[in-house]
Amino acid sequence: MNFEIQKRALSSVLRDDLDALVLLWPAQDADLIASKDPIAALLKQAMQQGDFEHKPGASLYLYAHPGVKTRHLVVVSVADGSTADVGTAMKAAWTVLKSVKAKRLGVHAPFNMSAQTVHVLASTLADASYSYTSTLSQPKPRALKTVVFSAPVIHAEQRAAVAHAQALVSGVEVAKEWANRPANHATPSMLADAAKSIAKGACFKCEVLGPKEVAKLGMGAFLAVARGSVEPLRFIVMRYNGAAASQAPVVLVGKGITFDTGGISMKPAAEMDEMKFDMCGAASVLGVFQALGQLKPALNVVGLIPATENMPDGSAVKPGDVVTSMGGQTIEILNTDAEGRLVLCDALTYAERFKPHAVIDIATLTGACVIALGGVRSGLFTSDNALAEMLQLAGEASGDLCWRMPLDEDYAQGLKSRFADVANVAGRQAGAITAAKFLQRFASRYPWAHLDIAGTAWRSGAAKGATGRPVALLLNYLLIQAEQKTPSLSSSHRK
Ligand code: BES
Ligand code: MN
Ligand code: ZN
Repeated sequence: MNFEIQKRALSSVLRDDLDALVLLWPAQDADLIASKDPIAALLKQAMQQGDFEHKPGASLYLYAHPGVKTRHLVVVSVADGSTADVGTAMKAAWTVLKSVKAKRLGVHAPFNMSAQTVHVLASTLADASYSYTSTLSQPKPRALKTVVFSAPVIHAEQRAAVAHAQALVSGVEVAKEWANRPANHATPSMLADAAKSIAKGACFKCEVLGPKEVAKLGMGAFLAVARGSVEPLRFIVMRYNGAAASQAPVVLVGKGITFDTGGISMKPAAEMDEMKFDMCGAASVLGVFQALGQLKPALNVVGLIPATENMPDGSAVKPGDVVTSMGGQTIEILNTDAEGRLVLCDALTYAERFKPHAVIDIATLTGACVIALGGVRSGLFTSDNALAEMLQLAGEASGDLCWRMPLDEDYAQGLKSRFADVANVAGRQAGAITAAKFLQRFASRYPWAHLDIAGTAWRSGAAKGATGRPVALLLNYLLIQAEQKTPSLSSSHRK
C-alpha cells in the first residue's frame, strides 16, 4: 500500500480520475458550503434539512455526482478534528467504500493537516483495508494500492509524516502477518528466517542462535520452556546501526512463544487457538525493524527474540523443577504456563552485553493484564520515570496507548520460594504486576520498561486478528530518541 501527498485545492481534486474520494469535513469549516464547488449546494441542503449533523463519522455518500469525476465520493465529518475523531471518520468512510474495491483512493482535507492527522488517517485506512491471505487457498488480497492525501497547504512536516506513516504501516503489517499466521506456519525457525529476510532487505545484521549456542550461554530458563517441543528453539539477535558505534543502543526484547499450550500446567481447550498470538511481542519487534530499515533514523537498536513453543511432553519441564537462569539466579517453576517470563529473563540478561541506553520488553504476558486494562491500553511497567514519560508520550501521539502500573516491592512477596532464589508465579492477585516484578529482578543493570500487550495485541471473536500493536508506540519512541540525540539531523527520517 502506497501513500502520496499533494498540495491541491478541492475543486481540482474533484476533477481527478480517482476510483473513490473521501472528503474530510471539519465542523467549523463554512467555506465548503459557501464555495462554488459542485457539491457545495448539496451539502448546504443536507445541513438545512437536518440530514447531516457534524458528529465524528457522520457521512454522505454521493454516487456519480454531476461535476465530480470520481463515481464514489464520501463526505465525512471529522467534527473538531481531534486524532480520535479523524480516526472515527476514516473508519466510517471506509465502511461505505469497502465494497467499491478502489485501487486508487483520494483523501482530501480542506484544512491544514497535522503530522498526527496524517498518521491516524494512514494507519486507520491500512488497518480497515487489511486482509490476511497467507494460508487461504483463494486469498482475497486488498484491492487498495494507492492513497493520495491532498490539502490546500502542504509543508515539509506533512511530507515527512507521510514517509513516517508509510514505514509505520509496513511495519505494522509485518507484525500482523507473523502474529496472524497459525503456529504451524510460524515456527521459531520460520520467525528466524523472517527476521533474516527483513535484515537482508534493509542491510542490517541478524544472527540466529540454536539450542546448542543457547545452552552454551547458560540460558537455563529459556531452555526449560523449550524442552517439551519438537520444534527447535531460536534466539534471534537483530542489530540496526544508524548511529556511531559509541552510541548506546535501545534494546527491544519480544516474547516469541509461537504457541502456548501451557505445557504440563496445560490450558483449558476453549480459545486455546488464540495462543498462536503468544508471539505478538516478537512480531512487534520484527515490525519495528521493518520500519527502521525504511526510515533509517540516526540511532542504534538491538532486537532480541527468544522463540519457542511451550508444549507438554515426556521431556517437558515439570511443576516444581528448579532451573538456573543465565544470570545465575535459580528459579522454581511452579507453573509451566508462566513461561513468558522464563524466556524473557534470559534475554534480559543477554541484553546487558550491549550496555544499553534502555531495554524495553514487549510480551503477551498475563491474562491478568487483560482483566486490568482490556483491549484499550497496554500495561506499562518501569521504575524509571523519564522512560515512563517518553513511552506514554509516544503512545498518546500515535494513538497506541499504554497505562503505567505500579511496581512496589511488596508485590514481590509471593514470588518467594524455599527451593530456589525465586518462584515463577505468585498468587492470583495482581498477576500482571507480580509477573513484572519477576522480570525486574533480571533487569537491574540498565533502565528498563516492560509492556504487557496481552489485551491489545489481538482482537478475539468475529474480528479475530492481530492489531500490530505496539509497533506505532515503539517506533514513535525510537524516532523521538533519534531526534533528541542528533537535533541537527532532526529531519533524518525524511525522505
Ligand atoms: N500467554 C499467556 C498470557 C495470556 C493469557 C495472554 C490469555 C492473553 C490471554 C501466559 O503465558 C500465561 O499463560 N500466563 C498465565 C500466568 C499464570 C500461570 C501465573 C496467565 O495469565 O494465566
Ligand atoms: Mn503461558
Ligand atoms: Zn504465554
